[in-house]
Amino acid sequence: MKDLHPRYGPYAVVTGASAGIGAEFATQLAAAGFSLVLVARRKEKLQGLADRLRERHGTTAEVVDLDLGREDAVAELVRRTAHLDVGLLVASAGTATAGPFLDTPLATETAVLDLSLTVPMRLAHEYGRRFRDRGRGALVLVSSAVAFGAVPYLANYSAAKAYVAQFGQALRHELKPAGVDVLVLAPGPTATEGFANTDGIDFTKLPMPAMSADSVVRAALRGLGRKALVIPGPLNKVNDFFGKHVATRALQTAMFGTLVRRALVAGRAT
Ligand SMILES: NC(=O)c1ccc[n+]([C@@H]2O[C@H](COP(=O)([O-])OP(=O)(O)OC[C@H]3O[C@@H](n4cnc5c(N)ncnc54)[C@H](OP(=O)(O)O)[C@@H]3O)[C@@H](O)[C@H]2O)c1
Repeated sequence: MKDLHPRYGPYAVVTGASAGIGAEFATQLAAAGFSLVLVARRKEKLQGLADRLRERHGTTAEVVDLDLGREDAVAELVRRTAHLDVGLLVASAGTATAGPFLDTPLATETAVLDLSLTVPMRLAHEYGRRFRDRGRGALVLVSSAVAFGAVPYLANYSAAKAYVAQFGQALRHELKPAGVDVLVLAPGPTATEGFANTDGIDFTKLPMPAMSADSVVRAALRGLGRKALVIPGPLNKVNDFFGKHVATRALQTAMFGTLVRRALVAGRAT
């Protein structure tokens, strides 16, 4: 990972840096020598991480406490990073809804869609242009293993992640000649705050052990610049193979439906 900083540095912007996969990206990028812009809503968490990274690695880290669900948030982030030589963007901020689609408030589903789909697209447009003009840079878009099938009870979330996976892989082809790398990261269950606390579902009831955020991010950073898509972990790769080459689409959807329904907490299953 030592070559990442010379390739894309000096600054990396990481959204969702206050917890989980985003915080782990920030930690591993700091160890690789990057200066950081840490973005999320909880300022104290971001500041705590910035302090730890400064002590451990001498990292320069700026904290941007921002609700990315706000209409003007991406423009504000761009404005607040305009003075920095940013060469890497990690779009990890995200939330999920679980349960019967019709039982979730429309505003909640719309917010999930904005944060998971519109925000990464806008970030890719803004920072992608910047990286193209600079002649080098990288975008890391965090999708999910549920992007590769239709997943009942995670219908809106999985469809949003499917967008991110297709969008990122297409963009990689477009931006490669300009010296800009794009990577889609599609993790399966990963032990994070979000994994433990998503309303309506107990992810530990899925028949898949959760990976650590550390190994998920390590796999992503190993693939950055070399691959279009990283599905971390052997089990997630086997599932992907099964979905692509063994099961019919209808069978895969039915299996996802059964498995996710079993993991819904009382009151969320119809
Ligand atoms: N964990 C898994 O099993 C798993 C599997 C596949 C894909 N993913 C994807 O991986 C990404 C990270 O998930 P995670 O598990 O690390 O989740 P997490 O532990 O819940 O962290 C989510 C991060 O997003 C930030 N965030 C949420 N809403 C925000 C908003 N409106 N504005 C700004 N920041 C916001 C949170 O910070 P604040 O609360 O401080 O704003 C936090 O830093 C997500 O895109 C998720 O869909 C996760």
